Amino acid sequence: MSLTERPHKVCKLGTHRVLEPAGSLPQAAWRLDPTPVAYENEILCDVEVLNLDSASFRQMAEACEHDPGRVANLLTATVGERGKQHNPVTGSGGMFVGRVRSVGAGLRERIALREGDRIASLVSLTLTPLRIEAVERVEMETGRVWVRASAILFESGLYALLPDDLPDEVALAVLDVAGAPAQVRRLAAPGMTVAVFGADGKSGLLACAQARDRVGPTGRVIGIAPSADTPGARLLLEEGYVDEFVAADARDALAILAAIPIALPRLADLTVNCVNCCGTELSSILCTRDEGTVYFFSMCTSFTAAALGAEGVGKDVTMIVGNGYAKDHAAIALQTLRDHPPLRRYFVERFSPKAS
Ligand SMILES: NC(=O)c1ccc[n+]([C@@H]2O[C@H](COP(=O)([O-])OP(=O)(O)OC[C@H]3O[C@@H](n4cnc5c(N)ncnc54)[C@H](OP(=O)(O)O)[C@@H]3O)[C@@H](O)[C@H]2O)c1
Repeated sequence: MSLTERPHKVCKLGTHRVLEPAGSLPQAAWRLDPTPVAYENEILCDVEVLNLDSASFRQMAEACEHDPGRVANLLTATVGERGKQHNPVTGSGGMFVGRVRSVGAGLRERIALREGDRIASLVSLTLTPLRIEAVERVEMETGRVWVRASAILFESGLYALLPDDLPDEVALAVLDVAGAPAQVRRLAAPGMTVAVFGADGKSGLLACAQARDRVGPTGRVIGIAPSADTPGARLLLEEGYVDEFVAADARDALAILAAIPIALPRLADLTVNCVNCCGTELSSILCTRDEGTVYFFSMCTSFTAAALGAEGVGKDVTMIVGNGYAKDHAAIALQTLRDHPPLRRYFVERFSPKAS
């Protein structure tokens, strides 16, 4: 037994790491024990990069007036206090890339993961015990933070080995939002009209590409984001991932309502919300036909605003909470990128410019 391992097996959901309140699960807990020693059924990792959830990073950046030093201090303070990166304002986290330092003895026979493997976590940082020794760099454009840190994955935790054919930074960006293209693949069907809010962001681009494939030549994909003059918006139009792009602020439901007849001769069968700001529930609902579906991937979604908003405008729509996990989501998200070389080039240029 190594010094980085503890002998006994504990709760596979990680409740043994909860410090307060007693009896809660790690995601709901206020504070976790991040001691960097693996129990028999845990995996201990040396963390290299955190990919902070976009909604969380935007809130932190705004609170720190876009000063990377202050963001680093805020991150260190949150993790120091809570033993995890669980933004107390947005309630969201992110994920990490790191190297396995030790695999508990009870797991070694059952999983292929070995010391030294590089992985991306596929469970939220809001439930991942994390201890930060130092923040080395905060990248304000992407929400990535290079750190010296350690993290624990529970037996129930999900992770993916980093693929050989993509730069790590690109894999990290895609895996962070893997649930979005995977859910679109499941929900979209030939002939459908699909509207994507936040279309020129990471999840929005992958959702549009996946929707384009699924709806086929008889379907339509509409992208919505604040400006048509961004590299992502241009990519969507030039490569035909969207049939139309609406430059509008999704918080302005009336402006969106005015744009709908132009962009969507018929309302959307499926609306996918991928924005990183609050107050866009009603726009998404108004774009969707009766008995259509709204998939709220955004972490800024308010259950109350969505439920009462739909009721208030008399919309009978199915609303889906953006579960970050869908079966095979990591493989589907990475394959979406591989299937679309222009999208892949865009992600490489944006997230790993040295590799492009
Ligand atoms: N459900 C899950 O498990 C899960 C996992 C990861 C992330 N998320 C959430 O998914 C959302 C998107 O994440 P991401 O990484 O794809 O974010 P991202 O790359 O930062 O993209 C955000 C998108 O929202 C757009 N946007 C911002 N304000 C807008 C407004 N007022 N009106 C219309 N569009 C607006 C942005 O447009 P501009 O670029 O032009 O500003 C951009 O297209 C975030 O809320 C994130 O927290 C959820």
